[in-house]
Amino acid sequence: MLDPVWRLARRARNIPRRLALVGMRLPPLRRLLRFLLDLPFDPYDSGFRADPYPFYHRLRERAPVYRSPFGVWFVTRYADAVALLTDPRFNHPDHRAQAQHPQAGGALALVRSNMMITRNPPDQTRLRRVVADVFTASFVADLRPRIQAAVDLLLDRVEKARRMDAVTDFAAKLPVAVIAGAFGIPSDDAARCQTWARPMSVLFDLAPTRAELAGAEAAVGRIAEYFRGLIGERRKWPGADLISALVQAQQSEGCLDDDELLANCILLFIAGYETTVAFVGTTILTLLRHPAAWKALGSDPGLLQSGVDELLRYESPIQTFGRQAQEDVVLGEKRIRRGQTVLVLVGAVNRDPAKFPDPDRFDLARRNNHHLAFGHGIHACLGQGLSRLEGQVALETLVRRFPGLRLGDRPPVWRAEFAIRALDSLPVAW
Ligand code: HEM
Repeated sequence: MLDPVWRLARRARNIPRRLALVGMRLPPLRRLLRFLLDLPFDPYDSGFRADPYPFYHRLRERAPVYRSPFGVWFVTRYADAVALLTDPRFNHPDHRAQAQHPQAGGALALVRSNMMITRNPPDQTRLRRVVADVFTASFVADLRPRIQAAVDLLLDRVEKARRMDAVTDFAAKLPVAVIAGAFGIPSDDAARCQTWARPMSVLFDLAPTRAELAGAEAAVGRIAEYFRGLIGERRKWPGADLISALVQAQQSEGCLDDDELLANCILLFIAGYETTVAFVGTTILTLLRHPAAWKALGSDPGLLQSGVDELLRYESPIQTFGRQAQEDVVLGEKRIRRGQTVLVLVGAVNRDPAKFPDPDRFDLARRNNHHLAFGHGIHACLGQGLSRLEGQVALETLVRRFPGLRLGDRPPVWRAEFAIRALDSLPVAW
């Protein structure tokens, strides 16, 4: 018990600042103690990260709409999550107004406040339409040969060794090759962008530390500088890439300003990077832990058409995202007060037995698999087509080339972040 308390206290040092950002106060000690004694939940504990699902089931049974001692609410039932994500009374705090505050400063505030993911209609609708008009299903389908070439190249490099780290040698390298190709970024630059993208993932974490936020600020500064240069080049010499298409949309329709163009180019780069690294890595682990499924894929790769969604449901790469109540709202019999934040615990929602029969069973042939791994409602993931395609090509190729793939002699290592469920290392052999 002591250990989680200590860890939580350590993380808590940073929490007042986070809460101040969303206008919340620290809880009374009584509520904090009740929480710690009753439902110990330390998202940074390695045991929790390896298997959070027993805790999620307990939380859903005992307090499905749960107010944590820090004031943030968590929802664990599918129906409540859908209600939250489709109710316009829940949306995002006005980050743009915060970013314009004289003391806000910094590239982080500027970029974050102009991304569609932090904006509300009508701005979010406008920004999303511009991006969706160029990031179409046919643009994504045309990326298939590039994805296949990237997968083949990565597997060629390790084939003879008969072993690899499926994260560092494969999952971490694939999405950057794909998205850099879509953006028309040279491979050396792509590698630099990759190193900047990782510290930025703490932007979506529950309680990043001061050091992590400082790292993210520096990383956003560098990536913003790089993308500004890139946008300038594409204005002069347009190509057949995503950035040129967005620049053209800006010039012809005047539908987004320069800060919005920059922020949403960066959003597409980082949203498509860390999430897909997480997805490809955990997906390989899930399949190797279910040898019958791996074998079934070997004889029928077509199973991946629907199976890719079961992989996303079973281990969802984004574990939490949320909304803020703009007025008092009743959600799942609880009154959420204006200004309070409600977070969806995606791993819990996607294993809600009321929605998914036998939810802890991994079943590649599962039907009606309307999981929330890509969100739901107006902010539902714009890149889901690309992620599914990357997952399908990666797994089809792996199972075809290395049918005897098995877990290596060292155990997988989960990443310390909570908001993104990802592996740091996954040794495999064949
Ligand atoms: C497996 C990989 C991925 C997962 C699990 C994922 C998950 C999500 C989730 C949960 C949301 C909704 C967040 C919310 O409602 O607050 C979201 C939004 C978004 N995603 Fe993804 N994503 C993935 C890959 C991608 C890729 C590859 C791209 C683009 C290249 C992308 C671009 C976006 C964008 C632009 C939004 C914001 C949409 C809006 O606000 O209207 N994502 N994603």
